[in-house]
Amino acid sequence: MAEFRIEAALEAAIAEAARLLTQARSAVALTGAGVSVESGIPPFRGPGGLWTKFGEPPLDGYQRFLRDPAKAWRERLNPAEEWARGLHETLTGAKPNAGHQALAELESLGCLKALITQNVDDLHRQAGQQALLEIHGNHYKLRCLDCHTRFDPKHFPIDEENLPPHCPGCGGIVKGDTVSFGEPIPPQVLRGCYDAVLRCDCMLVVGTSATVFPAADFPREVRSNGGQVIEVNPHQSELRGVATLALCGPAGAVLQRLLEHARTLQAAA
Ligand code: OAD
Repeated sequence: MAEFRIEAALEAAIAEAARLLTQARSAVALTGAGVSVESGIPPFRGPGGLWTKFGEPPLDGYQRFLRDPAKAWRERLNPAEEWARGLHETLTGAKPNAGHQALAELESLGCLKALITQNVDDLHRQAGQQALLEIHGNHYKLRCLDCHTRFDPKHFPIDEENLPPHCPGCGGIVKGDTVSFGEPIPPQVLRGCYDAVLRCDCMLVVGTSATVFPAADFPREVRSNGGQVIEVNPHQSELRGVATLALCGPAGAVLQRLLEHARTLQAAA
């Protein structure tokens, strides 16, 4: 990717964002597919987006799973769609980028109390983010639909002759942790998100089109509670008119510069 030059107006906006973040009592980040674009993972919408290229998948994925969980598992183990096969390969080869790393550093500086991500790619965890809420689940985990326990597939052998797998704790059906279209967000993570959003007085929104609910509501909620909303996105999103400060550029360069400003402000305090 060509190096992005930060012009004077953006530099001033980033400095202001660092001031807001370092002064906040409870700043929270909300991220979407855009933060992982510089790791080589395509977004869903817009130029180069998966849905743009292959069309949006059926919106009743969860209902289809429930109608025939064994069939859904066979499809998961041997995906027919080109995009699903390609996505798995892209995800497993991806590494955290400068944007993920800056967010993890902002947390260690005490500038972020939590990070809510819509991404299932595990890259925030790999970058060292601690207070992480994966609202749409994690591609590398499994989850019981009844008791919501999450499992690491490494310790959860799948018997292909006996699908779907069942929860060793409660006997419920086990599904991939990624939240399907039409599936309710698991209650613990949703509660965690609302707790963070209600306390949040400054939200750093990175790389999301803000079109999928409930996550798309979080910045609006913060704004209506009187908080600040800082958006990092090279393009215009649905948050036009919601963000109090727009940092128009790619996540990696903008967040690294934001981190430098936050460090300087903390050192001077
Ligand atoms: P989208 O694909 O809808 O939006 C990605 C956003 O990232 C767009 O606004 C881009 O402008 C922006 N973007 C692109 N490159 C960027 C960069 N280098 N730095 C910063 N931003 C960049 O992705 P999401 O908003 O995450 O749900 O989509 C929300 C949900 O829709 C996903 O979690 C997924 C999908 O259905 C599930 O899988 C359940």
